[in-house]
Amino acid sequence: MEAAGGEDAISFQDEAVDKSIFKDCSKIGFYRRQKLIPRKNTYRALLDSVTSGKDSTKFQIINEVNKVPLLAEVYGIEGNIFRFKISEIAPLKPRYEVSDVLIQKPVTKRLTPCTEDTGVLVLKDDSVNLKFHITANPFTIDLISEDEPVLSINSMGQLYFEHLQMPPKHRPSTECKEDVSTDPSQESQDDLGLWQEKFGKFVDIKANGPSSIGIDFSLHGFEHLYGIPQHAETHQLKNTGDTEAYRLYNLDVYGYKLHDKLGIYGSIPYLLAHKLDRTIGIFWLNASETLVEINIQPTIEHTLSPKGSVLAKQKVKPRADVRWMSESGIIDVFILMGPTPAAVFKQYSILTGTQALPPLFSLGYHQCRWNYNDEQDVKDVDAGFDDHDIPYDVIWLDIEHTEGKRYFTWDKKKFPNPKRMQELIKSKKRKIVVISDPHIKVDPMYSLYSQAKEKGYFVKNNKGGDFEGICWPGASSYLDFTNPRVREWYSSLFAFSEYEGSSDILFVWNDMNEPSVFKGPELTMEKNAIHYGNWEHRDLHNVYGFYQQMATAQGLIQRSKGKERPFVLTRSFFAGSQKYGAVWTGDNVSEWGYLKFSIPMLLTLSVAGIPFCGADVGGFIGDPEPELLVRWYQAGAYQPFFRGHATMNTKRREPWLFGEEHTKLIREAIKERYALLPYWYTLFYRAHVTSEPVMRPLWVEFPKELETFSVEDEYMLGSALLIHPITEPKITMVDVFLPGFEEVWYDFRTFVHWEGARTLKVPIALDRIPVFQRGGSVVPMKTALGRSTGWMTHLPYELLVALDTKGSAKGELYLDDGHSFQYLHQKQFLHRKFLFCDGILSSSCADENGHYHSECVVEKVLILGINKQPSSVTTSSSDGQEKQVVFTYCSKTAVLHLEKLSLNVGANWEIHVK
Ligand code: NOJ
Repeated sequence: MEAAGGEDAISFQDEAVDKSIFKDCSKIGFYRRQKLIPRKNTYRALLDSVTSGKDSTKFQIINEVNKVPLLAEVYGIEGNIFRFKISEIAPLKPRYEVSDVLIQKPVTKRLTPCTEDTGVLVLKDDSVNLKFHITANPFTIDLISEDEPVLSINSMGQLYFEHLQMPPKHRPSTECKEDVSTDPSQESQDDLGLWQEKFGKFVDIKANGPSSIGIDFSLHGFEHLYGIPQHAETHQLKNTGDTEAYRLYNLDVYGYKLHDKLGIYGSIPYLLAHKLDRTIGIFWLNASETLVEINIQPTIEHTLSPKGSVLAKQKVKPRADVRWMSESGIIDVFILMGPTPAAVFKQYSILTGTQALPPLFSLGYHQCRWNYNDEQDVKDVDAGFDDHDIPYDVIWLDIEHTEGKRYFTWDKKKFPNPKRMQELIKSKKRKIVVISDPHIKVDPMYSLYSQAKEKGYFVKNNKGGDFEGICWPGASSYLDFTNPRVREWYSSLFAFSEYEGSSDILFVWNDMNEPSVFKGPELTMEKNAIHYGNWEHRDLHNVYGFYQQMATAQGLIQRSKGKERPFVLTRSFFAGSQKYGAVWTGDNVSEWGYLKFSIPMLLTLSVAGIPFCGADVGGFIGDPEPELLVRWYQAGAYQPFFRGHATMNTKRREPWLFGEEHTKLIREAIKERYALLPYWYTLFYRAHVTSEPVMRPLWVEFPKELETFSVEDEYMLGSALLIHPITEPKITMVDVFLPGFEEVWYDFRTFVHWEGARTLKVPIALDRIPVFQRGGSVVPMKTALGRSTGWMTHLPYELLVALDTKGSAKGELYLDDGHSFQYLHQKQFLHRKFLFCDGILSSSCADENGHYHSECVVEKVLILGINKQPSSVTTSSSDGQEKQVVFTYCSKTAVLHLEKLSLNVGANWEIHVK
């Protein structure tokens, strides 16, 4: 099919992608090879080779079969983190080590070696009472915290390391054969994919031969595992059985299947494990194709033979075995010792960074479609929001806005005057996002192509020419973002002087950056394509998209001379992508199942360090029935990145196209989002500075309550709001689990309250989804709304104070100019804290470093859970002035309403309720 954009451009393919395009584990050579190894530990540590330095302890381990020595290194890292590396001592060629993902060289601390036994080396970190027991033969490591084993490494004997070898034809005939094959006939070697691997019509010729690595971890006492996005799977990781490991391999899977362990768009090789008294993390720093097998043995109760009349019972502790396998690179793993969920989040951010603080507009609602056809269409859609009194912040332009899918250009017929269009949007205090993909149309007349070609900035094929593949524009080459010079050049293209028709309200969307290559193996790039530094694509596939977003974010920062915060949405991502913007879950389908799965998929991203994430509202593929669309808006309004999007051949679905009743419901959902923006922004600030996820699974907030560990149909937004989206049609009643033995929960709209640790039957109508506020919290909101976030800067605040069982509550508010880096460089921000205790609500400074002048006032305060009518309410400001406050009290709901308050948001004040 041809598209209008360019003669040889590829157009949209109508039906979902045929799943046989993608490999299952049985088709992956390194998986087959690793699975061939008998469960016998063939490695021995040579403890007489131990050297102990300031940074690390090193020793050799040897494979008893092939006698190849490897180097193991153990590092203690500040913050209760340990690093463990295994590589070849003298590889034939260097092996790939991921760079640019760790934000700094980890700060190491000395582990003290001491030998308790022959054949055992013990490394101690006394500051956290932790010991590394390294047993020589067979080689295993046990991590023991406060005398309790937390985790063992290689206790299943699955350490696997393919040392680099000369190709068979270059090898003297006496040299040992490949380790993996007992019968190395050409045929069986081909089958194992040592030097070449076939998949359908594709043949992967491996110049470096086999280079796979792997090892196992046994997590003692753990049976709840999470993380390793991205899969269309449940939040809680499942046992993988023998054939369906979780795959981490960035792929463009259009209309991905639900309940599938196939890797989609992005990969974060980071797994979390949680039990009642500890949370830990395993971060496997490897960017090649990776498989993770999971085998959880739950708690078992054995009945022992009867003793008298009593049946004795014995509880066997659960254990989770996790086996990591990667195609190339080295073993480089960080063990995050927690012990709390918050500590693990912090530890992971020490390594990979925290969420970039988003510009405020990006927390509003985004309206996207493939495509808004032309300038007039953009104007009409924009006006539609105003006409229907629906706030929104950003209108998006997909690939058709360009001249034949040549990014950084405009289709002159459809968008003859992009500046004029942006001026209009700017006058509405709104923004535009345009798409910029990594493939560049092969066209010598396209200056981006000719420049990149001349500079040698494209990924190369294995013959040394520029790699060419097919994508939207037809034949395309792919920018090699792994090269710092390419990134620098790409960033410079976003300068206003370079990017014609761009302005300061234009932001960017990086799509197809797995990278997607239409006729490539599994719709991606050949693994033997060559990148900067002569690395094969196989070594770094999973980090390609990360680098594009990094360069784009840098470009947007640079175009403002370092002043403005960027906004970049990416489809592909890796560990650390949070530093560059937002991620969405790609091409979902307009079906209830996908709405339901948006929750676990976003929770998994959130705990894996990507708080700013969302799913296409309404579903990308297909036409949602109005009820589904309404429910999706209601859910999306409470998810971090909130964007409606639809593919090409779908019916138009702007919020007002489904009749007045549905328009009203969608309007209300979007308005709820806007009312809560102060809370959202504060949560993002916390994610930015303290690495707490914005959207949190219940187990994160209630880590000591077993019942919460498997909940995935509801979640917390920050620590104050519990959200239970409705993800099935025609629901009239839903079970909402309210956690917490000592908690009290308030219905967010009616203020009726319930005690925690119960499942509540909540009657459901189409007008809302269940939202509850946790007693003990203060949620900041706006009292009024504007047409976009830009119109709301000066509008007053409202505080929703929900008392806990002791009659107290606390909360906070962060605010700044919403768009620049002045919060960072000039400390121009306000961080306030609110405390309600003994009948006094106080506002005070949470961070003395911040200064920001705001005329905004807190106009309204609602106190929920006040059991008796007060006799008086007064305010007092820091200058000692006292004022009576007119209040209303509703004894039925136990809510105290204070209005017309006029208390400056940046000042210290108190409200006394007597
Ligand atoms: C694939 C993306 O996932 C989708 O959101 C986008 O609309 C199309 N590419 C076209 O650019």
